[in-house]
Amino acid sequence: MQIKEIKAVELNPQEFIAEKSGEIASVVGSGLAINALSGGVDSSTVTMLGHKALGGRLKTYFINNGLMRQDEPQQIVSLFKELGVTVEIVDAQEQFFSALKGITDPEEKREAITQTFYKNVFADLVRKSKAKYLLQGTILTDIDETVAGIKRQHNVFEQLGIDPQEAFGYKIIEPLVELRKDGVRKVAAALGLPKSSYNRMPFPGPALSARVIGAVTPEKIKLVRLATVITEEELAQSQAFQYMAILHEDRVTGMRQGKREFGFQIEIRSWDSIDARLAKPTRIAYDVLERLANRITSEVPGVVSVTYNIASKPPSTMEVV
Ligand code: XMP
Repeated sequence: MQIKEIKAVELNPQEFIAEKSGEIASVVGSGLAINALSGGVDSSTVTMLGHKALGGRLKTYFINNGLMRQDEPQQIVSLFKELGVTVEIVDAQEQFFSALKGITDPEEKREAITQTFYKNVFADLVRKSKAKYLLQGTILTDIDETVAGIKRQHNVFEQLGIDPQEAFGYKIIEPLVELRKDGVRKVAAALGLPKSSYNRMPFPGPALSARVIGAVTPEKIKLVRLATVITEEELAQSQAFQYMAILHEDRVTGMRQGKREFGFQIEIRSWDSIDARLAKPTRIAYDVLERLANRITSEVPGVVSVTYNIASKPPSTMEVV
């Protein structure tokens, strides 16, 4: 089925909200639905839209997959508490790390994350809560890239010929599929989400596992999480669309205190983009790059090399996995 895009410029957020919350309410009827909130703008928007439509008949979970950024679960739960939405944290760290064990191929990694989310974690929650519907924030860009075979976004099914009811035992409602990121931000603002939410930088579903080249282990996630904290602090004032730290699989020879150190490499990427379809590297001032390199090599254990990516999308993509 061809999805008709609603461009951000032609979007009337209030009308969109009224229409979509009406649709959600009529599809779910008197039943129950669940959704997973990651704190990103798409899932935050769906959470607010769903609560507007269903009130207490929507149960919202934060899946702690062990791959999130520093303190992310607690921050998101307290932000939504202020907005009047109760979010329950589900600890699924072991399930994700064991599903990812030994996988090096990027698409296999994405598939392992998808299966763990939908077949294990959500299916369990659906069973326990007796909900029949999962609400999720898939957007048009996710579908485009998946269908084009560029990257399998973790949340796209129907367009790949997968029936979620058959595959996982529940139906999926996707109220944002006609929008791209800029449109979602308009809807998020109109739903009363704070600026820190609707201007929040995108973060991929596979989370920090998309920022580790090669096999994902808890130790590697720890390293890339630390590098991410530093990168986000140092680039917070930039106007970039998205910035990230990536841990490479290959190690390189470095030296510390006169001794050889066969250490890790971190790659920094920072993108200027409107809707993630095209992107150019941000022209970061050299002193900022230098500070990043100094902090990462001294604060992240074992890192001896820091690089900045200067290629555009295409042919690059924004994430490495
Ligand atoms: P790429 O790497 O495809 O990224 O150029 C484009 C935008 O999409 C985000 N991204 C994802 N978002 N699930 C998501 O929700 C995913 O599997 C996923 N993969 C990439 C990426 O961070 C960027 O903003």
